[in-house]
Amino acid sequence: MREAISFLLDDRAVTVSGLSPTTTVLDYLRTVLKLTGTKEGCAEGDCGACTVMLGEPDATGWRYKAVNACILFVPALDGKRLLTVEHLRGRDGGAHPVQRAMVDRHASQCGFCTPGFVMSLTVLHESGTRPSRAEIDEALAGNLCRCTGYRPIVDAAVDAMAVERAVAGAEAPAVVGSLAYRADEAVYLAPRSVAELDEAVGHNPGAVLVAGGTDLGLVVTKQHRALPALIALEGVAEIAGVAETDDTIAIGAAATYETALPILERHYPSLGAMMRRIGSRQIRNRGTVGGNIANASPIGDMPPALLALDASLVLRGGGRERVVKLDAFFTGYRQTVLGPGEFILRIDVPRPTPDVRLHCYKVAKRFDQDISAVCGAFRLVLDGGIVRSIRIGFGGMAATPARARLTEAALLGEAWTEATVRRAMDALDADFSPLSDMRASAGYRRTVARNLLLKLFVEVGP
Ligand SMILES: Cc1cc2nc3c(=O)[nH]c(=O)nc-3n(C[C@H](O)[C@H](O)[C@H](O)COP(=O)(O)OP(=O)(O)OC[C@H]3O[C@@H](n4cnc5c(N)ncnc54)[C@H](O)[C@@H]3O)c2cc1C
Ligand code: FES
Ligand code: FES
Repeated sequence: MREAISFLLDDRAVTVSGLSPTTTVLDYLRTVLKLTGTKEGCAEGDCGACTVMLGEPDATGWRYKAVNACILFVPALDGKRLLTVEHLRGRDGGAHPVQRAMVDRHASQCGFCTPGFVMSLTVLHESGTRPSRAEIDEALAGNLCRCTGYRPIVDAAVDAMAVERAVAGAEAPAVVGSLAYRADEAVYLAPRSVAELDEAVGHNPGAVLVAGGTDLGLVVTKQHRALPALIALEGVAEIAGVAETDDTIAIGAAATYETALPILERHYPSLGAMMRRIGSRQIRNRGTVGGNIANASPIGDMPPALLALDASLVLRGGGRERVVKLDAFFTGYRQTVLGPGEFILRIDVPRPTPDVRLHCYKVAKRFDQDISAVCGAFRLVLDGGIVRSIRIGFGGMAATPARARLTEAALLGEAWTEATVRRAMDALDADFSPLSDMRASAGYRRTVARNLLLKLFVEVGP
């Protein structure tokens, strides 16, 4: 078992020991390595000023992702390659094509956001594709610029994508086996197999699991709470992917949104469109579906759709596995049925039959990079104008994500008409008594939920 963190900083091997495991990569870069090109804006994953490029070794060399350094713990660098704005250069040794285009297009004013934009665009550039305008927008949705305006930045992106790739390869660090990193009276375990993960969880009862860390990072940077024992899921290859059988899409607990999105989108386009609005590319490159469920937030965006789809969770602990339906998983505000030593291993989502329609709606104050006020998902099967099957999941309407059971009952077996739908809208009032908070008032939430059902009717048609 290895006890020090090893990674490549550009092409230089770095070994880290003695540093608290919850030190963020941003703090490490700026205060230890004195690489201050990477900026801190919000320290919560919202502004993109801290965007860095993280390479993961794969069969073709490196697969790069844009990530927020402000909420990434240093041990997550283990076995990877980190590049910051200081490491960019062109093939001629001058500026990288993205940097060159940003200058030529006058895409920077105060410059505070610029390193983050450059890093997001460099990752896109290194993918070697010719992205569309929509794909450029999506790659930049997690980068906030307060002074330049986005047109010159997007123009620079378009110019840069026409120039060949410039980031040189590098030998991947020889990192094998699990990591048990201890420093500053804290421990970070990174097992490599489900059996090791199970054992680590069993032997460290107080430890907190960390998947992408996009919720947990804020516990450190915003709540200033200590996390003395962490167990990381991301090195467990068995649960990092998504597998399909004839009837199920099995999402491993360590699979990120970006891994799960293309597969879920192929089966459920509306779910894919909703997932593209979860956080930003940087957040989706790290955040997991499993973390979203385990976090048990009433406004998490995946549970409404997964409730509507009748997803099941495979839970594991002490070498045993059990299956729990998602609609039996949440027991109260941020409470779940997870017992001590138990974790989510996998999320099983039924594949659609040809008659199934899924419609997902996320209602937030902004289109991109915003938490929902209300999120609704409807799985509907019509047969000869009759509602043969209906499941409705809502977030933001109760202490937990929840099904609208009375509304489902008001629709099931009825003719799919506006009159039926309007009656069911009244049932929604009986299903939920939402709260008023800083995101929305109870009255707003109730009205939105009702109108989402009407929107479904309008979209599906009589
Ligand atoms: C800027 C920003 C924007 C965001 N936007 C959205 C958004 O639009 N919609 C949305 O829903 N969320 C959003 N989030 C919240 C967050 O990204 C998601 O909830 C994400 O899915 C969390 O996954 P993670 O892997 O990062 O979880 P982590 O932070 O690693 O873990 C979250 C919690 O789950 C536990 N946990 C993780 N995996 C498991 C497991 N397998 N078994 C048991 N427990 C586990 C952890 O111990 C922790 O308590 C946003 C967050 C940020 C910072
Ligand atoms: S500092 Fe704002 S996203 Fe990291
Ligand atoms: S150039 Fe000032 S914030 Fe973007």
